[in-house]
Amino acid sequence: MSGKLKIGVFGGYRGQTMIDVLLDHPDAELVAVCDKYTPLLSQVREKAEAHGLDVALYESFDEFIKHDMDAVVLANYATEHAIYAVKCLYAGKHVLSEVLPCETTAQAVELIEAVEKTGLVYSYAENYCYMLHTFEMWQRYKKGDIGKVTYGEGEYIHDCAGIWPQITYGERDHWRNNLYCTYYCTHSVGPLIAMTGLRPVSVVGFECPPHEDMKRLGAYFGAGVEMVVLENGAVMKSVHGHLKREPGSVNYELYGSKGMMETGRQAVNKPLYVYRESDKVCVGAWEDYEPVPKIAAEYAKNFQGHGGSDFYPTHFFIQKILGRPEGLEWSIDVYTAVSMGLCGIFAYRSVLDGNTPQKIPDLRDPAVREAYRHDNKCTNKKIAEGDDLLPKTSYGEVDLPDEVYEHVRQLWIEGKPGE
Ligand SMILES: NC(=O)c1ccc[n+]([C@@H]2O[C@H](COP(=O)([O-])OP(=O)(O)OC[C@H]3O[C@@H](n4cnc5c(N)ncnc54)[C@H](O)[C@@H]3O)[C@@H](O)[C@H]2O)c1
Repeated sequence: MSGKLKIGVFGGYRGQTMIDVLLDHPDAELVAVCDKYTPLLSQVREKAEAHGLDVALYESFDEFIKHDMDAVVLANYATEHAIYAVKCLYAGKHVLSEVLPCETTAQAVELIEAVEKTGLVYSYAENYCYMLHTFEMWQRYKKGDIGKVTYGEGEYIHDCAGIWPQITYGERDHWRNNLYCTYYCTHSVGPLIAMTGLRPVSVVGFECPPHEDMKRLGAYFGAGVEMVVLENGAVMKSVHGHLKREPGSVNYELYGSKGMMETGRQAVNKPLYVYRESDKVCVGAWEDYEPVPKIAAEYAKNFQGHGGSDFYPTHFFIQKILGRPEGLEWSIDVYTAVSMGLCGIFAYRSVLDGNTPQKIPDLRDPAVREAYRHDNKCTNKKIAEGDDLLPKTSYGEVDLPDEVYEHVRQLWIEGKPGE
């Protein structure tokens, strides 16, 4: 035994990213992977053998969780993270969770309390906080380079229509087919919350008109917009989803009392622009440059996926378990994770209530939790019933016929794009 942390990965599709980091990490060892889709397990076996490792492979979570390991990476369905995080924590495992942190506020309360009761590490793998440009913005904001935040924008535009068969497999109940507009909000709002370190206190949500062509692919909901107010009064605009442009767009702006930072919108631009006001008002200077990894740079530079962000969530998780300063400083904890996710949950309540402002509860406070402990409102009929079951779109829910999903499944089997 190497004395490294023993880590398992649950979900072998997106989980391949974390698997790749773990296969080459100096402080951790990949010991087990679980996925019910066995071709993914075969891929893991090949990779592990190429690294001279014997990784245990499981199709069942209940068997996987019994494996001798210190920590679990959750890369399973985006609506089931809190459910499995709680199971893992009570089984004595530290947890790194993919996005999103929870589907309901009841799950948010249960997750926070499981972390508090077990004292184990929970880290949120919101990798968009660690892209070369966003992580640089985070570090510079913390240094005080643009003063106190007043306004920000976060944008994650990704028209997934072309890859819909490859990411939903023609499954009617796949979480991507059951999403609502503001749920998947933490790629856009998450970096703004991480950079500023401020809690979101209220939100107004909007749903853009859904694209009719998505009906042929099995999903019908529009892009989501959240207007979020942070605890100091700063306003953040977050927009995400299927809007028409190629390639997609991942952009952020942050304004402060002494300047601003923004990412380059087009490939021809530099990745980061920073404006800093001088001692004279309205007189300042611009910098534009390509940020490079500064922390664990020798490892980080080997992972280019998602704007250079795919290394750090796993790395900081490991460092936090080991009690090292960089993990304690940069890993995203459960309170911040939940506050990011609640922006989307409450934005949708705003959408359904005529775009009214909604208060975002501070679930760090035990007294506040009681009102949300049994709040199961969501669009998932496995979780919510009666009035708690929300429509999947504010534009009139549609019941798509089985032929749609059979068609998408066939496209997936044939390796064809969405059409
Ligand atoms: N951060 C990013 O940039 C990024 C990119 C893609 C996906 N994701 C996230 O990764 C997660 C997984 O998404 P995905 O793209 O891999 O697609 P997915 O959700 O379809 O894949 C999940 C995988 O987990 C397996 N799985 C789920 N529940 C299981 C169970 N109970 N037992 C055994 N296996 C189970 C499935 O077989 C599947 O292979 C989601 O939360 C998604 O939001 C994040």
